[in-house]
Amino acid sequence: MTEKEFIPSPYTKSVLSGKTTYKSPSNIALVKYWGKKENQIPANPSISFTLNECATVTTVTYERLNEPSNSFFFDVALDGKVEGSFKPKINTFFERVYQYLPFLKEYQFKIETSNSFPHSSGIASSASGMSALALCLMEIERNLNPEMTQDYFNQKASFLARLGSGSAARSIKGSLVQWGVHAKIEGSSNLYGVEYPHKVHSVFQNYCDTILLVDKGQKQVSSTVGHDLMHGHPFAEQRFHQAHENLLKLETVFAEGDLNGFISIVESEALTLHAMMMTSQPYFILMKPNTLEIINKIWAFREDSKTHVCFTLDAGANVHVLYPEDEKTQVQQFIKDELAAYCQNGQFIHDFVGNGAQKIN
Ligand code: PMV
Repeated sequence: MTEKEFIPSPYTKSVLSGKTTYKSPSNIALVKYWGKKENQIPANPSISFTLNECATVTTVTYERLNEPSNSFFFDVALDGKVEGSFKPKINTFFERVYQYLPFLKEYQFKIETSNSFPHSSGIASSASGMSALALCLMEIERNLNPEMTQDYFNQKASFLARLGSGSAARSIKGSLVQWGVHAKIEGSSNLYGVEYPHKVHSVFQNYCDTILLVDKGQKQVSSTVGHDLMHGHPFAEQRFHQAHENLLKLETVFAEGDLNGFISIVESEALTLHAMMMTSQPYFILMKPNTLEIINKIWAFREDSKTHVCFTLDAGANVHVLYPEDEKTQVQQFIKDELAAYCQNGQFIHDFVGNGAQKIN
């Protein structure tokens, strides 16, 4: 598919008003996306587990305007309260996607959204939020063009979500989603995420992710700024090459259920992401002292317990603790006894790998 194929043919149906709701999950990258080209094209391919519990529910109510407008008409509410601060981001998103969704200037919208995780938890809500909104907009488009296929619907939802926030492209489907072209992964695209097409061993089914809320404050450096600092970064090319290599190595790891191989790639990816931040110009550190305390505790516990617990990080101080389902009892006890103390107010969220977004009736 090319960008042009996401420009719709003239709508065949006319709809006066309606309402649509989607629940869309967050995701956690195993091979990280860090660095992008124009129009949210990733500098390297990435792969993530789709989560199940950390999700955004968005309802879009729409009503046709008497005549098409020159600007976008919408209101946004978070947890039932009008949230003016979200408007500029959504307006920018609407501008970016308008050519692919021309009905955006023909309706007025009410966007109501809520997250299953605490708003200020430091968990990125952009992946779940942008994918939920993209899915609602696609549902409206499906009402206007009912003949579209489910594959087209999913691809375009991911394509639109990507234009809102890159990693959101990976939140439409589950359980492993790849985004970004890789020579050995057929169907992979820079424009949208695809379900990982190769064999995945059953040990990765229901894989667990406990998110330790180490720091719930606002990040000092946004992802947008961080991605941008990969332009002219001294190690950028080497890093992009490494991401391709790691995806290749993961193919065998997934097929064979090689948990030690998995741990070594996933932890290295997390630390490399943060190493890129520490070696940008200007440089910055998003980890906190407790992030490092937790990493050391995980390493010590893994050694002692012979379990396969490991960690990954996103662009922040929180730690994602990953482990297979059959080690859940032991690892969750360890989290409660030894890691919770390093979390803000002792807070953590148990999550696991999910199947992607759902329409809510
Ligand atoms: O989607 P963005 O632009 O917020 O970037 C997210 C980047 C990471 O979370 C750090 C890595 C990833 O692949 O999700």
